[in-house]
Formats: sequence, C-alpha cells, structure tokens
Amino acid sequence: MSTLLIKNIGCLQTPVGSFSHGGKKQGENVKMHNASVLIEDGILRKICSDGVSACSEAAADMVLDAEGNLVTPGLVDGHTHMVFGGYRQNEIPLKLKGAGYLDILRAGGGILDTVRKTREADFQELYKKTEGFLDEMLTLGVTTCEAKSGYGLDFETEIKMLEVLKKLNEEHPMDVVSTFLGAHAVPEEYKGNEDAFIDMLCGCVIPYVKEHALAEFCDVFIEDSVFNVQQSRRYLECARTYGFGLKVHADEIEALGGSQLAGQLGAASCEHLISIDEEGLAALAEGGVTAMCLPATSFYLGARFAPARRMIELGIPVAMASDFNPGSCPSLNLQFVMNLGYLKYRMTPEEILTAVTVNPACAIGRGQLVGTLEEGKQADLVIWNAPNMEMLCYRFGSNLALQTIKKGILV
Ligand code: NIG
Ligand code: FE
Repeated sequence: MSTLLIKNIGCLQTPVGSFSHGGKKQGENVKMHNASVLIEDGILRKICSDGVSACSEAAADMVLDAEGNLVTPGLVDGHTHMVFGGYRQNEIPLKLKGAGYLDILRAGGGILDTVRKTREADFQELYKKTEGFLDEMLTLGVTTCEAKSGYGLDFETEIKMLEVLKKLNEEHPMDVVSTFLGAHAVPEEYKGNEDAFIDMLCGCVIPYVKEHALAEFCDVFIEDSVFNVQQSRRYLECARTYGFGLKVHADEIEALGGSQLAGQLGAASCEHLISIDEEGLAALAEGGVTAMCLPATSFYLGARFAPARRMIELGIPVAMASDFNPGSCPSLNLQFVMNLGYLKYRMTPEEILTAVTVNPACAIGRGQLVGTLEEGKQADLVIWNAPNMEMLCYRFGSNLALQTIKKGILV
C-alpha cells in the first residue's frame, strides 16, 4: 500500500455528489480552508482539516506541501477530437478573407481535409501525436477526457482512430472515454447519398465498435450540409439499440432541431448550442440532457456564445469542454475555457468548477469515479498556482496548474 499526504491546502474547493448539477446546484461547491488530503493506493481516503490525526504525516509514505494554494478535482474535458492527421493552419487566411466554417467544408476542406490526412496516417503516427496531446493536457490540469473518432468516415480509419484511443486509455495515465462519431461529415464518396452512408454506419461500423468495445458513446453532427434530423435520428436510434450512450453536435451554426432530438432521445449531452432557441432549451431541460458548451470554439470561429446563464436558469446542467480539433478549436487548454466561462458566459467561479469537473464526468459516464473530491473517489486533483477559483478564472494565458495528481501519482 502506498500513501501520499497533501498538506497545507489553502482552499480545497469541489462540487459534491456523483450526479449532474443543474440550476442552483451548479453553483454549489464545498470550500475547506487549511485542509489536508490522504491518498491511499490512488484513492482519496481522508479529507481533513490540517492537524487532524487521521491526516497526520506519520500515516504517509510521502508528503506534499500545497503551500497554501487552491486544490480542486482534476479537470474533465468532456468533448475533444484529438486523433487527427495533419493540421489546418491553411484555413486561417481563408477565414480572414471572410470564408465561413461551412463554406470551407462545402468546398471539400475543413473536416474533409482532415479526413484525407487521417486516412493517410498510420496507427503509430496517430498514437504518438495523440499521446503528446494527452501529456500536454495533464500538465494543464486535465485528468480525464472524452475523445471522438470522426476523421475516418470509412470503416478502416474510424476503427484505427478508436483503437488508438483504446490503447492510450490502457497505456497513458489519462482516463480516456471514447465516442464513435462516424456521422461527423458526409465523405466525398457518399456525397448526395447520405442515407446510404447512414445505412453503412448502422449496418457495419456500429455493430463492430460494440462487439470490440471500442467506444461507449455515439455522436452525430447535425448541421446544414452535414446530417439532417431524420438521418441523425436513425443513426442515434440504431446506436441506442446497441446500448451506446448518445451525444449530439447541434445548433452550432443553425438551429435545425438537433437539441429537440437530443431531448427526445434522452442523450447524455448535447454539444455546441451556440444558436439554440427556447424550444431547444426546453427540450434539453425536459430530457435531462447536459449542455456541453464549447466557448473556445465560439472564440475561434468569431461566433456568438451559447446562452449558458439561460441554461442554468432553466436547470439544465452546464458542462464546458475544449472541443480540441484541428479546425474550429486548435487548443486543448481547459483553463482558457474557464476564463471564457467567466467573461463570456458570465458564470460564477463555482458554476465554472462544476462545469469542468462533475458535470462533464457524468456526461461521459464517469461521475461515480471522478469529478469531485470525496472520500472513496479516485485521487485525481490539481494544486493550482492560485489561492482561489476567482484567481484561476481571472488570469489567462499562463498555465496555473502547479502539480497534477492522477490516481495518487504526481504527473
Ligand atoms: O465540434 N462541428 C463539428 N465538429 C468539430 C469540428 C471538427 C473540425 O472542424 O475538424 C466541432 O467543432
Ligand atoms: Fe466537436
């Protein structure tokens, strides 16, 4: 048995409970001053006030001094597209000349450009590149993440991406939860034949992904020039019969009814929601769906920001994620997402902490294990170069994570 004591924690701040926090609960955090944490074999064994004997130094193999700083749960990034070939910096000049995200996609660029490069990349190349991203995320305070396929759009490449993620989940300290996003765009070879593409995904890829336990969730991109609500319903209903949890990219550019579909199907989360209307909001509230808001994508696209305050008002649990991908958000920095939550969504520091810990943890099926600091949960936590959450939400552009601890190990 190995034990680690973290002492002299100026403020230990955490949401409490293994459920999605909506409404008033979104802003409820416990704050403990002058605290210590005793970790045993990667599990949080005791959380005490400094000096309490259950957390004495004598009980520990190793002692870490938090020097009066803030400690929170490890951050959970609930939405990423981190496995991809190449990059897309060539799109910036096009964007600056006025080309929109969908204009670039319709011209065969955007996601389809990354699809070509991801099909060309071999397993090892994708593994190495993604491993580097996971290392970077850990140094930024992220200890659990979700990751999607969706740059293959054919059987072979989609499976290659999911196998990369499966191997990384086994070999890297990060906990990685995989999502099959076969319906991310219409591949060139199925252009004009979208229904046949959905048939292929449902008939061939989804059953294989299930049989080989390559993903826990299925996701679809509902948007003009991508998939419509009927096609998406068929795909998601098929995924549901195989026992997958559901996620939906909806209302990123236009509100086409994607949030309503997510609500009707009881999806675990609905993503983007920049253009969501009152009907869509009501459907999320009704269906108990977590709103996965992606403010760094709004920032990078120069788009509006999702109505997070309205969501909280309606009791919809709000999560915030990076959306890390090579096109609409080439950043995996969840600290920057927290800054945007503060300034653009006007969320409180407490609501923000909930949005990057327990709410995304629940939306990716890990709420029982991570997302809060409570005795018996996994010892995933971060010591910050900040005395409190206000400082963390206010400073931006620096990495304020002093030490990330994953399953009780300093990483
Ligand atoms: O969530 N909007 C759809 N998918 C990704 C972007 C993918 C890309 O542009 O490569 C997103 O933003
Ligand atoms: Fe996305």
